[in-house]
Amino acid sequence: MYNFEYKNPVKILFGKDTISKLGGEVPREANILMTYGGGSIKRTGVYDQVKAALAGYNLIEFGGIEANPHYETCMKAVEVVKENKIDFLLAVGGGSVLDATKFIASAALYENGDPWDILALAGKVVVKKALPLGAVLTLPATGSEMNGNAVITRVETQEKKAFGSPLVMPQFSVLDPQCVFTLPDRQVANGIVDAFVHVFEQYLTYDVNSPLQDRMAESILTTLIEEGPKVLANRTDYEAAANFMWSATMALNGIIAVGVPQDWSTHQIGHELTAFHGIDHARTLAIVLPGLMKIKRSNKKEKIVQYGERIWGVKEGNIDERIDASIAKTVEFFESVGIACRLPDYDVPKDTIDKIVQRFKESNAAIGEKRDMDYQEIEEILMDRL
Ligand code: NZQ
Ligand code: ZN
Repeated sequence: MYNFEYKNPVKILFGKDTISKLGGEVPREANILMTYGGGSIKRTGVYDQVKAALAGYNLIEFGGIEANPHYETCMKAVEVVKENKIDFLLAVGGGSVLDATKFIASAALYENGDPWDILALAGKVVVKKALPLGAVLTLPATGSEMNGNAVITRVETQEKKAFGSPLVMPQFSVLDPQCVFTLPDRQVANGIVDAFVHVFEQYLTYDVNSPLQDRMAESILTTLIEEGPKVLANRTDYEAAANFMWSATMALNGIIAVGVPQDWSTHQIGHELTAFHGIDHARTLAIVLPGLMKIKRSNKKEKIVQYGERIWGVKEGNIDERIDASIAKTVEFFESVGIACRLPDYDVPKDTIDKIVQRFKESNAAIGEKRDMDYQEIEEILMDRL
């Protein structure tokens, strides 16, 4: 196992009717900006619950944050933050609202020029300051509620970029599984597959003798496979909703990543599909992952075989046959929750592959857990998905 440091300061308030506890978490004297999306929170009653919990607080609102949140919209919110001397941000929504709020929190205090650099030069530009934020999560999927990551799209240039900083980890996140009750099938399916692939990015690499992390990762996968379909079948099954919600958080709060190699190339390639075609994040992962497992089968051999055996009971055949069977089981699972796994299912033409490959070529990309995946392999992976 590798050396590691781990700190996760996010306080989780999990369970039925926990939104009512907000008053105890948000600073009483703060100027609060509540951020939200396209209006689902008004239809579901979450908006009213938040307003009731924070009655008497100094709170203004910024709505209209899109799915795959736009840099352009975030910068409008930054203006609101500055004009109103906001000193606390409360994100109410899914991963998109949370991510946008994290970017707003850092962009509002960014002093080194264009805040786009936080994203464009992520890794080189270090976020030094950010406004404090809290979250009410309405959609289990991204893990954004318990991590320091955010992904933002710039419409003007069709770019989707991520950044991470411990400074944008929420101070608290409220997770009421009853929020799942109002989710459409499409978003439940997205949540299952996104969380599933988050586990993959931290698990399906190579062995460093980390049996605990492996088994924790496998337990999240198994729970998603068992509980996800229950949520799809009965949206008001509270226990299934709770187990699904906590699985999605555990999939990307850093705990299964400690001491092990990480991949993230499915995400990096997937973000390009969203950037060019607006495809839901999870669906881009379902497209890319089977191709990636196929093309990177030698790097990932032991882990794919372990995954196939422990998760799907694949025990027959030689190594290659077992890898093929494990990929097929994965695709079957994604399709069973209603997510198609090929580019033509989303009307993506070959031309888009060329554009994506060109981007990776220009950036001289070397991604994956061994940093050995170049633009040519990315092309092979995408061509496999046509
Ligand atoms: O915008 P509103 O009206 O709120 O509606 C949303 C949106 O249309 C709706 N929704 C949310 N909660 C609901 C609900 N509808 C009914 N009932 C509820 N309780 O669902 C739609 C999708 O919401 P969105 O926030 O976009 O979905 P998700 O949580 O899947 O977030 C996706 C974004 O997160 C990023 C993705 O790239 C994408 O931009 N990710 C963030 C990560 C992170 N911060 O760590 C990691 C992920 O890998 C991912 O990249
Ligand atoms: Zn994801």
